[in-house]
Amino acid sequence: MRWLGGVDIGGTKCAVTIGKAHEDNVEIIAKAKFPTPAAPSDAIRLFVDSLTRLLTEHSQVTLDAIGISCGGPLDSRSGLVLSPPNLPGWDGIDVVTPLRARFGVPVGLQNDANACALAEWKWGAGRGTRNMVFLTFGTGMGAGLILDGRLYAGTNDMAGEVGHMRMEHDGPVGYGKPGSFEGYCSGGGIAQLGRMKAREALLHGAVPSFCESMEELDSLTTQRIGEAARQGDPLAREIFHIVGEKLGHGLAILVDVLNPERIVIGSIYGRQQPLLEPIVMKTLGEEALAYSMRACSIVPAGLGEAVGDLASLSVALNLAEQA
Ligand code: BGC
Ligand code: NA
Repeated sequence: MRWLGGVDIGGTKCAVTIGKAHEDNVEIIAKAKFPTPAAPSDAIRLFVDSLTRLLTEHSQVTLDAIGISCGGPLDSRSGLVLSPPNLPGWDGIDVVTPLRARFGVPVGLQNDANACALAEWKWGAGRGTRNMVFLTFGTGMGAGLILDGRLYAGTNDMAGEVGHMRMEHDGPVGYGKPGSFEGYCSGGGIAQLGRMKAREALLHGAVPSFCESMEELDSLTTQRIGEAARQGDPLAREIFHIVGEKLGHGLAILVDVLNPERIVIGSIYGRQQPLLEPIVMKTLGEEALAYSMRACSIVPAGLGEAVGDLASLSVALNLAEQA
């Protein structure tokens, strides 16, 4: 049994967690959640203070290691967050040293998608596989690659930055790039696509049920468009059709290149699966090599919404096991 500390740094939300890892599962003992502070120094202070508070409230806990999961680009060896598209202002930020100094245990930083891949592989839908891909599909789009039974991070930690892949010459912006995979397949991307389509419709005198006037454009969310699509709104359905096709194309590239046994998709896929799955599978059937598809299943995250919290704990567990 090991006591693990976790810090999840997301584009919109952060969480600090304490977990208890047993032989083949993990239990969350305590958790604090907050919106991500704009200034990295404020965020780091908040992580230190919250973890200190949780440890005071749970005096039985002696941490073995702390894991940090954060959007990339980052450098796990130097512990530096480099300049993630969804964390403006986090340029060359050392998040490891302050935590190590305060808590005196091994602290490790890992790309969030890589960390989620480890968590799903250990405890979730990727259990028992040797080749698996995890896709975040949340605020951002990133991949974690488990290849030949270990995490593949690439030459300098950039493997799996699939959000940066070009899908179209132009389109919704993600990863600072119009028409990218993150541009189409992320929360912000779907909302942008919704805004483009709704504006066009309103200008032509149509009134989409999910956005009845120009004033509502700014507050449009993926959730809202999803609800409208489920109720049969044709424009909302068209938006999800486009997103499903782009997701299918992205998956087809991963299937053709990596020949994985399983692809596990987080966040939005789990919530919108009935809308997305048919079009994703149809696109994959048309685009990916049939031999590879025969060996590959596409599933939502087995840990569901908890995958984010368990991601940082899986990084901590990896460290504790090496120590
Ligand atoms: C980041 C990736 C990250 C993904 C999911 C992307 O914008 O560049 O490193 O894995 O978002 O958070
Ligand atoms: Na990655």
